[in-house]
Amino acid sequence: MSAVAQGRPLSKVVIIGLGLIGSSFARGLKKWQLCEQIVGCARSSSTLEQGLALGVVDAVETDLGRAVQGADLVFLSMPIGATEKILSSIAPHLGKNTIVTDAGSVKGCVVEAAKRVFGTVPENFIPGHPIAGSEQSGVAAGKVDLFLHHKVILTPVSGHCPKAVSKVSELWEAMGAEVILMHHDAHDKVLAATSHLPHLLAYSLVDTLAKDDENLEIFRYAAGGFRDFTRIAASDPVMWHDIFLANRAATLEVLDQFTEGLAHIRAAVDTANSQDMLGVFTRAQAAREHFSTILSQRAYLESMSESIKEKQATFILQPGEQVSGTLRVPGDKSISHRSIILGSIAEGETDVEGFLEGEDALATLQAFRDLGVVIEGPHNGRVKVYGVGLKGLKVPPGDLYLGNSGTSMRLLAGLLSAQDFSVTLTGDKSLSKRPMGRVADPLREMGAHITTEQDGSPPLAIKGNPCLFGITYKMPVASAQVKSCLLLAGLYSDSTTVVEPAPTRDHTERMLRGFGVSVDQKGDTVTLQGGQTLKACSIDIPADISSAAFFMVAASIAKDSEILLEHVGINPTRTGIIDILRLMGADISVQNEKQVGGEPVADLVVRSADLKGIDIPERLVPLAIDEFPVLFIAAACAQGVTRLTGAEELRVKESDRIQVMADGLLALGVDAEATPDGIIIQGKGSDQAGVFSGGCVESHGDHRIAMAFSVASLRSRGEIQVANCANVATSFPSFVSQAQKVGLKIVAKDA
Ligand code: S3P
Repeated sequence: MSAVAQGRPLSKVVIIGLGLIGSSFARGLKKWQLCEQIVGCARSSSTLEQGLALGVVDAVETDLGRAVQGADLVFLSMPIGATEKILSSIAPHLGKNTIVTDAGSVKGCVVEAAKRVFGTVPENFIPGHPIAGSEQSGVAAGKVDLFLHHKVILTPVSGHCPKAVSKVSELWEAMGAEVILMHHDAHDKVLAATSHLPHLLAYSLVDTLAKDDENLEIFRYAAGGFRDFTRIAASDPVMWHDIFLANRAATLEVLDQFTEGLAHIRAAVDTANSQDMLGVFTRAQAAREHFSTILSQRAYLESMSESIKEKQATFILQPGEQVSGTLRVPGDKSISHRSIILGSIAEGETDVEGFLEGEDALATLQAFRDLGVVIEGPHNGRVKVYGVGLKGLKVPPGDLYLGNSGTSMRLLAGLLSAQDFSVTLTGDKSLSKRPMGRVADPLREMGAHITTEQDGSPPLAIKGNPCLFGITYKMPVASAQVKSCLLLAGLYSDSTTVVEPAPTRDHTERMLRGFGVSVDQKGDTVTLQGGQTLKACSIDIPADISSAAFFMVAASIAKDSEILLEHVGINPTRTGIIDILRLMGADISVQNEKQVGGEPVADLVVRSADLKGIDIPERLVPLAIDEFPVLFIAAACAQGVTRLTGAEELRVKESDRIQVMADGLLALGVDAEATPDGIIIQGKGSDQAGVFSGGCVESHGDHRIAMAFSVASLRSRGEIQVANCANVATSFPSFVSQAQKVGLKIVAKDA
């Protein structure tokens, strides 16, 4: 059996072209002992001599035919324009099992060259392209780790020998590269945009500026931007000449798109159109930020990073005892979403302060940028939204990806149902399982065209209908998201009425009033007349009571503790957490109450208390809907049984919060029984030192579950590990540092 089939080192590898890539490949082969002998071929005898002297190759050969005889693998790494000539020279001398691969930056032309030489692409010919390099060239520039953590694209054509594909992959992987298989046309399009166009621009910019004698001055002072932008203009001209000729069609296509963009920005500068300029710059800045978060493998709004995210961030908590200090937790998530949505469809500029820079609210922000709204920020919680009016949204360039955020999807569904374009809303794995029929059904009654998966889950494909009609809708579930969705759609209909089975958060109604829209509220019924203009305003977002809740429970269950939580939103439709904790005996005082932009805020002081188990009044469930995970931790530390009923909604949040919490509590030694609409928790009482045994719990990617079990560490006998916590960034990106600040012994570890 040959070495190729067996996975043992190859006996002989021939490298044709000993530049940066060829010599780096040779160095990698040697370092990882992937072959016994490397023969180098190059046009210039000095390159060959240098290759030998540096020990990059074991032997050199000037006759290509002789070189490839008996080779297991031939690696082509000369400029791409020479491919056909080189293939013709080696073709008659290649053995039946010799694998040929290359490193050219364009793949369609390599496939065509092989066809011309061999009649068809031989099954052992595997086109490839390492996405690695530098502006340096030559045999001495080669680096043993040039391919480490870089991608290598292989573009085998159908009918290729799978063993040859896996051998070539194996070599690259042994050098630390990640191998991706792709069709050669797709490769050429992607590379035209990501590599070829930037090189063309860099060459052209430097040449344009260098032509003018006077401009030579600027090179003397060139630093920063110019240097960064033009670094790649130092690359090998012959190589790039070949690349542009080889990938003409794809390069021209993307160059035309760019030229159009450039003309647009030129016109904006010419006419001093600030809105247009800011639009381009803020979108580009956000895209660049997005792009670097993906590259650095941090969790962000992108489905591609989902698998990475799942593996990331375990919280490790040592038993803690006491907490104390002052905190201002981040801005309210619900109000942050609404500030962007209403600011975008208002007339004028809306200034927002205290915006939550968490992934959910950022998903909404990014969606509106995609819908053509210029949004500056966020910078330290400040955002400026340049409203486009009720009818100014534009068709987005693609699907709107909303990450983990149910609020974004449901509220946007209402607004986008009434536009004169179509759009599809998608989300991450958790959001893709959440029920959307609750918004799609009433929106359809209003005349909207929406399709979902058969079970009502996302994606939501919305074909806009600017002529919606008003309905009166009695909500079967108490949901602020459904109510808000219908009110947003109602802005585009005649008169819309929503009847609530129980009070839910009323931030949309309050903020609409702040934007000058009249909203009528009578008991459980909200009515809105469509067609009203929103007038931009300033919004000061209070700290999120749902984030404060973790520290309210922390201070209550830990001994000798006191925490001051500043500027917390205490909208009466959100304060169920205070009411429930007080019923359990918590010591919470509300101080400095004031109104900020239509929302009540206060400072909360929470001190240790002996909690007792209670039957949670069902009327409080919608008013504390997001706080139950941490309330269950309080219940475990209370004396006696706590029973929750009427809370089936918890089963369709970011996770099934009833089951996931019951499983976690059991894993930590607390007796908890999940029921269809709630839970029964046997509290262990405040006089016992260790309520929780310690151990591992799974958050199922649910931010609030992850933070709730972190708080449990304050009453734990042993270490608690909470898995899958990356989504804490959706609502409370600074949770770990704020928790550390008041005394939780928490560290986040990337798994
Ligand atoms: C929210 C409403 C609630 C809540 C969610 C935010 C909102 O959802 O759980 O975190 O901003 O309107 P439901 O409306 O589904 O109860």
